[in-house]
Amino acid sequence: MNLIKVKDYEEMSNRACEYLVKKIHELDNPVLGLATGSTPEGLYKRLIEKYNSDEVSFKGVTTFNLDEYVGLSKEDPQSYHYYMMDKFFNHIGDISSENIHLPNGTAEDLEQECKDYEVLIRKAGHVDIQVLGIGKNGHIGFNEPGTPFTSRTHVVELDESTRQANSRFFDSMDDVPKQAISMGIETIMESKEIILLVSGEGKAEALARLLETDAETTEDFPASVLRKHNHVTIIADEASRLK
Ligand code: PGA
Repeated sequence: MNLIKVKDYEEMSNRACEYLVKKIHELDNPVLGLATGSTPEGLYKRLIEKYNSDEVSFKGVTTFNLDEYVGLSKEDPQSYHYYMMDKFFNHIGDISSENIHLPNGTAEDLEQECKDYEVLIRKAGHVDIQVLGIGKNGHIGFNEPGTPFTSRTHVVELDESTRQANSRFFDSMDDVPKQAISMGIETIMESKEIILLVSGEGKAEALARLLETDAETTEDFPASVLRKHNHVTIIADEASRLK
């Protein structure tokens, strides 16, 4: 794992943006894995600026998001569909809507939805570069501690700690969904390259555990699996490196 140390959230977002833009230029039909949450918001803002100044085009780009809440429709402002449209895709005029993929959290048959998502990723030739965040408990995507490293896209029960952390986006804790569809850990590990964005002291413990050289690679700490991937770049700000 390669660690890029940056000063703050702004610099993390800028570096991640530069990294992705370079990739998009290098690859013929890039397949991007995208994430939601607070961490990548700055990255999306920078990418929109680059698009507006004609420094990058999303023609031919395909995207797959990591996850979506079960039970929230695309129109629900708390859904990850809504987040991605609002914070990114609605501002990118040249991406084809049929190239944008998120799991459908309101699918009638959720198991089938998971299988179909896997097929779509495979058909696209796998993710070239996956943007990841990390949960305080080490989750990646919505793969909570205890998730098998062999998991594929699946329906997950969200940890109480994750629901608590994400409740800031909802009116009340009761509104936070209990389940989500998430790419599995093996699905994430099949990405050819991964960039993990880490910002803020709230993530310091998780980052320190990930970087501990003699720490165990264990399903109890899902992000530890990244040590087995041969092309991971971590972009971490000062606050997240305090431990
Ligand atoms: P955050 O979430 O970016 O909102 O901190 C990251 C995660 O839980 O994976």
